[in-house]
Amino acid sequence: MIQRFPTPDLLSDAVARHVIACAGESIQARGRFTVALSGGTTPKRSYERLATREFADLIDWERTHVLWSDERCVPPDDPQSNYRMAKEALLDRVPIPTEQIHRVRGEDQPERAAAQYERELRGLLQGSLSSPAERSETSHSAQIDLVLLGLGEDGHTASLFPGQATVHENTRWVMATLAPDGKLWRITLTPVIINAARNVTFVVSGASKAGRLRQLIEGPFDPDTLPAQAIQPDQGRLTYMVDDAAFAAIPDPEPQSSSRAKRGI
Ligand code: 6PG
Repeated sequence: MIQRFPTPDLLSDAVARHVIACAGESIQARGRFTVALSGGTTPKRSYERLATREFADLIDWERTHVLWSDERCVPPDDPQSNYRMAKEALLDRVPIPTEQIHRVRGEDQPERAAAQYERELRGLLQGSLSSPAERSETSHSAQIDLVLLGLGEDGHTASLFPGQATVHENTRWVMATLAPDGKLWRITLTPVIINAARNVTFVVSGASKAGRLRQLIEGPFDPDTLPAQAIQPDQGRLTYMVDDAAFAAIPDPEPQSSSRAKRGI
C-alpha cells in the first residue's frame, strides 16, 4: 500500500503515528513491540517527532525493543553510526530500558559483529531474552513486528546492495557486506528476516528517489539491480510511506496494474 504525504514534515509525522500504531497492536497482541530502525537521513525527522511529548507518551517503552535494519561498521559514537543517529534523535529522549536497545557492535570485526547480532536477534525473537513481563506472554514466533526501511538512489535498502549475494540469502538473518564504495563495511538484516516481519514499511522522501520508487513499484522484478524488490513480506503488511516529491514519477493508476497487484499496492 502506498501512503502519500505532501511534505517531508507531514511524512515524518505520519511515520511517527505509524510506529505508535504498530506498537499498540503488537503490545496488545503479544505483550511487546520489536522495531528495526533504518539508518540514513530520511528517518531522522520521524525519530525526532516520535521523541516529542506529543508522541513519546503514546508508546509503552518498557515493552519495546529497538533493533537496526542495518549498521555501518564504525564505533557507536562515529558520525556515520545509525545507532548514534537514533540515540541522539530518539533513544536518549524516551524511557526505554537500556537492555532493550539491541545495538549492532559496529566497532567489531564485521563477520563477528554479524554473527553476534544474529545470535542476539534469535535469542530475542525466539524467546530467551524476554523480560519478566514478556515471559508471562505466549512464546513469540521469529518475527520482528515492524521493520523500517529506506531506499537508496541506487535501489538498495538496508545494506542490501545491487549485485551482492546478501540479496539472495535464504538462511542467515544478518550478514556483513562491503558497501559499493569499497570503503565501509556494513552489517545488514537479510530478506529472510525482513520478509518474515509483521510490518515492513519503506519511508521515502525527495525527488532524487522518484525514479527508483517508480522502478521499485512498477518496474520488472530484478532484485539484483534493485535490491529493494527483494523485500516481499511472506505474510506481513508492506507499506510505502512517501512524500509528493518521491511520488512524482508514479503515473496515475490504471485499473490495478499487474506489477502493483503483485506487490499488493
Ligand atoms: C543506511 C541506510 C540505508 C538508507 C538509504 C536511504 O545505513 O544508510 O540504512 O539503507 O536507508 O541509503 O538513505 P537516505 O534516507 O539518507 O536517503
